[in-house]
Amino acid sequence: MSFGALSPNAIRALNKGAKMGGFAHDTGEGGLSPYHLEHGGDLIWEIGTGYFSTRTKDGDFDPDQFADKVAHDQIKCVSLKLSQGAKPGVGGVLPAAKVTKEIAEIREVPQGQKCVSPSSHKVFRTPVKLIEFVARLRELSGGKPTGFKLCVGSRADVLAICKAMLQVGTTPDFIVVDGSEGGTGAAMLEFEDHVGMPLTDGLMTVHNALVGVGLRDRIKIGASGKVAASNDIVKRIIQGADYTNAARAMMMAAGCIQAQLCHTDKCPVGVATQDRRRGRALDVGDKSERVQRYQEATVQGALQLMAAMGVTDPGQLQPHMLRRVVSETETRSYAEIHEWLAPGQLLDEVPQTWRADWELASADTFHPVRPTIRRS
Ligand SMILES: Cc1cc2nc3c(=O)[nH]c(=O)nc-3n(C[C@H](O)[C@H](O)[C@H](O)COP(=O)(O)O)c2cc1C
Repeated sequence: MSFGALSPNAIRALNKGAKMGGFAHDTGEGGLSPYHLEHGGDLIWEIGTGYFSTRTKDGDFDPDQFADKVAHDQIKCVSLKLSQGAKPGVGGVLPAAKVTKEIAEIREVPQGQKCVSPSSHKVFRTPVKLIEFVARLRELSGGKPTGFKLCVGSRADVLAICKAMLQVGTTPDFIVVDGSEGGTGAAMLEFEDHVGMPLTDGLMTVHNALVGVGLRDRIKIGASGKVAASNDIVKRIIQGADYTNAARAMMMAAGCIQAQLCHTDKCPVGVATQDRRRGRALDVGDKSERVQRYQEATVQGALQLMAAMGVTDPGQLQPHMLRRVVSETETRSYAEIHEWLAPGQLLDEVPQTWRADWELASADTFHPVRPTIRRS
């Protein structure tokens, strides 16, 4: 979650909590701010379509600025944002009221004007160019782990990216799959509620596609979308994730009361505002401890759940360990309900169920099929 959507004190509390707990803090697409760097917590630097903090005057990606800033020791990973679950296909929006002098300087945009990041990247237009750009970011960063985040729109798009990896001969270090149930500080409700794949579908699609093309062991998968309690972590690992991220749950730990006033700059608890007087409502010392304790207790709970399941390593979690109610009297396991590809299967003989999407997918174009709108 960006500085801009969140206040200076919220960023401080999250980063200080991350430092105390030994976990990482994602900057969001709003650029690197001094508040990310005050407490020394590990950072994942997210680069969105606006290239904030690393852009030229025309809004293009600036490689020199990037190389200079990414060298900071606190930045451990780089995450290229393609899309997020609350608004796939739509860029970020920071309302004019929140574009203060400071935000304008950090993002390198005009003050007091609505800050809209484009809906797609200028730097690449095709899956091959995406993979080449990820490789370029990694090179510019001196080899720091580099990946991308997306909300899946269609299975053919995911396969197109897999084909691009095979063609270019390189892979991202990680892919974060965001579910359509994800949150935001600003988006149309129609997008929030009806576009993009829910996390369960998106995650299993990416996991299976990578297994199917024989690249799963080279790429970590992160999962986000209402991951708040210990059981969410265990469930997402069973469905194919290596790790999970949390946004809104961390906002709650930092004091969010869901007043739903993020877009008005009038957050009453100082979490989602650029008004300095309102921001003072958030006590960084107290809230950073809550952030740290929340993360620790949730991860500890996940370990306890796994122990109760007889698992000593998350890698032992398997689809048959998760069950779903399918009728009033029946439950079935994920191993039974869903199709799980074998390593390299898509390269040997594409199963009938994947054939149409595999044939449609091209390393040279996105959107062979447009994402569909979901009925709720
Ligand atoms: C206030 C707010 C700001 C966000 N800003 C960003 C952002 O800058 N970049 C991004 O990729 N996702 C952003 N997100 C989405 C989250 O990172 C996350 O992908 C999504 O909310 C799902 O996680 P959750 O259910 O744990 O909130 C934001 C979400 C919220 C609530």
